[in-house]
Amino acid sequence: IKHEVAQEVKRMRDEHSVKPRLFAVLVGDDDASAVYVRNKVRACADVGIESEQLDLPDSTTTKDLLAVVRKLNEDKDVDGILVQLPLPKHIDEAAIIEAVDPARDVDGFHPTNVGLLVMGRPRFVPCTPAGIIELLERNKIEIAGANACVVGRSQIVGRPVASLLLQRHATVTICHSRTRDLPSVTRQADILVAAIGRAGFIRRDFIKPGATVIDVGINKITDAAEARALFGDEAEKRIEAIARRGYTLVGDVHPVEADLVAGTRTPVPGGVGLLTVAVLMRNTLQAAKWRRGV
Ligand code: GUN
Repeated sequence: IKHEVAQEVKRMRDEHSVKPRLFAVLVGDDDASAVYVRNKVRACADVGIESEQLDLPDSTTTKDLLAVVRKLNEDKDVDGILVQLPLPKHIDEAAIIEAVDPARDVDGFHPTNVGLLVMGRPRFVPCTPAGIIELLERNKIEIAGANACVVGRSQIVGRPVASLLLQRHATVTICHSRTRDLPSVTRQADILVAAIGRAGFIRRDFIKPGATVIDVGINKITDAAEARALFGDEAEKRIEAIARRGYTLVGDVHPVEADLVAGTRTPVPGGVGLLTVAVLMRNTLQAAKWRRGV
């Protein structure tokens, strides 16, 4: 995807003298969010999109941040506006999301874009869900008619990916913390999407033999015993990583157990996350094309 975007960015520059531009806002001092935003800014450089990052302190109020977003809305040189989530608890996240110009909402979080997606007329599609569909399609995983099960109902992943799978004619089940006998439901799934944020939560008995398992979780493990329970042959390497940098990453899917039954499983890191950033580049390019009519 990044290669396709890079070519198109080059064409826009050569033929129309237009350069897409993304503005990313990071509030507070969440380490993971800082890494994600850094990766996005880096990806912009890779594909030739201009980017700017604004770091705001944890003490930023809803009012402050609204003022920042409104200022960006007025800046006609900005094609894509991104406010990294989650925001600090004291900030009214919904108010911020609603303040972003829907025509430049490259995350697809604005109610207008969410509504269009649910209606089956997507404009900006949230990046991780779009990346998941891209992954399935490029790997020739049949979606139409498949039983797809999404575990997690977040605005960022669970709900939108369910909409996209439904639009592609899957039979979609959305599970969550109140679902009764979760493994019996997830075990029906030909395509299982795990987006709950709990390390190694999806185990062997949750997975239909041969299923495609998409692991959206990114969880930090800091405990050697936990690493030993999750990583099998790889455990010593992971424990060493914990000793070296304090943590190791694992998805929502138990890697060793899943690989005993699943047809395929996306790794963490290096799976869905890469697609998320690539789709953001594509959404930003799309915003620039629409806005500038090229
Ligand atoms: N937090 C987790 N995923 C995302 C995303 O795709 N965009 C933004 N802005 N914040 C996120």
